[in-house]
Amino acid sequence: VLSRPRDVVLNALYFGTKGRYEEVNAYLIDDILAINNSLVTLPSSKCSEIHLTVIIRHGTRYPTIKNIQKMREFYNLVVRDATSNLNCLSEIKSQWKMWYTDDMDGRLVDKGREDHRHLAQRLIKWFPSLLTEENHRCVNSTIAFREGLMEGLRIEAPPPNTAHFECLPFLTHPFQCERFVKEVENNKSALQEVKGFNEGPEMKRVMEKMADRLEVPYCDNDLFNMILEAGFFLCAYEFAIQELNSPWCQLFDEVDAQVMEYAGDLKQYWKRSYGHEINSKSIVTQINSDGIVSEAVTVQVGHAETLLPLLTLLDLFKDDIPLSSTNFATQHNRIFRSGKIVPYAANLLVVLYKCPEGIRMGVRLNEKSLTLPGLTDPVPMYEDVKKRYRALLEGCDQETVCKINNS
Ligand SMILES: *[C@@H]1O[C@H](CO)[C@@H](O)[C@H](O)[C@H]1NC(C)=O
Ligand SMILES: *[C@@H]1O[C@H](CO)[C@@H](O)[C@H](O)[C@H]1NC(C)=O
Ligand SMILES: *[C@@H]1O[C@H](CO)[C@@H](O)[C@H](O)[C@H]1NC(C)=O
Repeated sequence: VLSRPRDVVLNALYFGTKGRYEEVNAYLIDDILAINNSLVTLPSSKCSEIHLTVIIRHGTRYPTIKNIQKMREFYNLVVRDATSNLNCLSEIKSQWKMWYTDDMDGRLVDKGREDHRHLAQRLIKWFPSLLTEENHRCVNSTIAFREGLMEGLRIEAPPPNTAHFECLPFLTHPFQCERFVKEVENNKSALQEVKGFNEGPEMKRVMEKMADRLEVPYCDNDLFNMILEAGFFLCAYEFAIQELNSPWCQLFDEVDAQVMEYAGDLKQYWKRSYGHEINSKSIVTQINSDGIVSEAVTVQVGHAETLLPLLTLLDLFKDDIPLSSTNFATQHNRIFRSGKIVPYAANLLVVLYKCPEGIRMGVRLNEKSLTLPGLTDPVPMYEDVKKRYRALLEGCDQETVCKINNS
């Protein structure tokens, strides 16, 4: 165990959606309850906060059963077939234990509960006038997040099954959108760029290097796809769950990690974001521009599946050139990097302020202010935001967007 997880060999930002939240806000490593005001732009002091909407991705989780099985398969392969005497391989064979079991299947780990509990406590520091005892009830969220709020506000948590929620949900899971499921989720051709990259020269190079390190002949593309994926998962999960710089990470060098990261980003891009228009449109039930302010605080815990489409609707993190199977090299400085955008416990905060000149709106992703594309003011007038996104507010009729016309 390294005393400082930041000394990890691989830059943990390469872990994409399996990255930990502390990576994007490094000051949290020293103090998990710290808030950093220099990352946030506020309106004038004549304004006061009147509303907060929070959309959070789930915290750190165990791998899904499908990925656990790949990890086990790769571990067995290393033990059985890897003849190389690399230090990391000896360490895996002699000391590392395959401790992931099928029943863990995607469950939240303790660290994941902590992620939300701590976020809730930081939000109380950010918004002391909004997150008050009176407002705590209007929070539909995970138990850990609520416990964090209760703890921060020093009130007793109501038993989960009697808690009652008053907040309007306005986002749905993409799977509820029939058109999305048919055209993207269940459609192999929708991800042809991902497939192309997985079979392309950069990935092939990573496979060959891996074959050399393991001293296992490079023959079967499918087998090596599994090996790379499983090896990268093992490295990422050991770090996310246990803060271990595990020997698995030493099977990848930095370029390998960048290639693996790109493969993951491509998948997010084509499945959840700009790749297909339906990806973002699939999640909106209603964006009711007036209804949204009827409660002081609304919280939704979602997934990368909701957060990424939502950011996409807002035109955020949109590169000029789409991510494709052939442009890894020129996308080195892309802004679409899922490790920065949607790590575990990623959160989008929308704050409304009452100011003498009217209502203003601030947006923060992962506790940092964002300027909405097309608007210059970091805390614009709410009217200007509505104008900017008028097409979205008017044209988003989920019934029409998601329904498949069978005739
Ligand atoms: C807050 O963020 C700024 C900008 O990233 C950084 O320079 C500073 O060190 C952070 N503050 C603390 C207390 O870590
Ligand atoms: C609260 O969350 C639960 C579980 O996600 C959901 O079933 C329910 O509809 C939500 N209720 C409201 C009012 O948002
Ligand atoms: C699958 O995706 C391809 C590429 O986006 C598209 O042309 C095709 O119409 C989709 N198939 C279905 C059944 O929606």
